[in-house]
Amino acid sequence: MHAAVVRAFDHPPRYEEIDLPAAAGEDALTLDVLAAALHHRVRSMADGTHYESTGELPLIPGIDGVGRDADGRLRYFVLPDTRFGSMAERAVIDRRRSAVLPDGVDPVTIAAAMNPAMSSWIALRKRIDLAPGARVLVLGATGNAGQMAVQIAKHLGAAHVVAAGRDAGRLAALAGVGADALVSLEGSPEAVDAALGGATTEVDVVLDYLWGSVSQRVLPAVLTARRDRGRPLTWIQIGSVAGPEITLPSAWLRAARVQLVGSGQGSVPAREIVAELPGLATHITDSDYAIDAVAQPLSDVERIWRAPAGARRTVLVP
Ligand SMILES: NC(=O)c1ccc[n+]([C@@H]2O[C@H](COP(=O)([O-])OP(=O)(O)OC[C@H]3O[C@@H](n4cnc5c(N)ncnc54)[C@H](OP(=O)(O)O)[C@@H]3O)[C@@H](O)[C@H]2O)c1
Repeated sequence: MHAAVVRAFDHPPRYEEIDLPAAAGEDALTLDVLAAALHHRVRSMADGTHYESTGELPLIPGIDGVGRDADGRLRYFVLPDTRFGSMAERAVIDRRRSAVLPDGVDPVTIAAAMNPAMSSWIALRKRIDLAPGARVLVLGATGNAGQMAVQIAKHLGAAHVVAAGRDAGRLAALAGVGADALVSLEGSPEAVDAALGGATTEVDVVLDYLWGSVSQRVLPAVLTARRDRGRPLTWIQIGSVAGPEITLPSAWLRAARVQLVGSGQGSVPAREIVAELPGLATHITDSDYAIDAVAQPLSDVERIWRAPAGARRTVLVP
């Protein structure tokens, strides 16, 4: 079959022929892949930098996708850690890690949406007990995952969602999909800190997609601006587009009643993530989320990989 194949971590995948191992075990299914999205996680799989990377090559990138099984059913699937990912004409999946989709849904839309949506769905359902009426800050709300997080937080019961992001157009659009307050991360550090602190004095949960230089600055601003520093605040670390590290002075952890947790592969057991797939897939197919996806041919994978990543989620179609 044809697939995107990585033979060296310092080179983008190439469109090549490669053999797919036969499906083995009663829960294994071979699917015709219809759509596989190019998430951040997929890039770090392909360049060997993801914390779950084993260093084995060659590999086919792709952690999830939408395919059609031998009985003609559409399935969204998540692959286990494997060298045989979803950016291929076919994929061997474990049926227990898949959700059957209604006929007629657009495979590209589902493939684009599930991973970004899963980030906040899992964080809010599995890393904390989200109290009805909670107040949530989405830090990095203009990305694919952040935009979904604003909407999913509302769906899961948040009463007030503050969206903080950089791109002015995408930030403004979030007011139309449930954000109650918008904070621009553009501007002088002092102005950003003041605006963010002022908007989050009573926030209960932070969904942090940025980390790095941004969280380094705004974390103490949010902590010290709290109206009641004894009010519990859970800061959930989810993504790191602004950098992989911060320096954490001990005083920050004493300055307010804050707990810092992470959400992702590892901090939530795979069986718990997999158990959430059908519910989230149903929620997305039943909702009218605006999913900004662009379908591209799998055969063009090498060129697509080298192109600058735009705001729209690229989905490869065999
Ligand atoms: N843990 C999980 O379960 C999980 C699941 C999915 C994704 N993630 C992670 O979540 C992060 C976001 O994923 P995504 O799919 O939403 O990516 P995305 O669509 O590429 O969005 C990233 C956004 O980050 C913003 N950004 C980058 N640098 C910034 C900075 N210095 N300050 C403010 N904003 C900045 C950009 O905003 P502007 O357009 O406004 O510039 C961009 O829209 C990634 O790190 C990804 O790996 C984690």
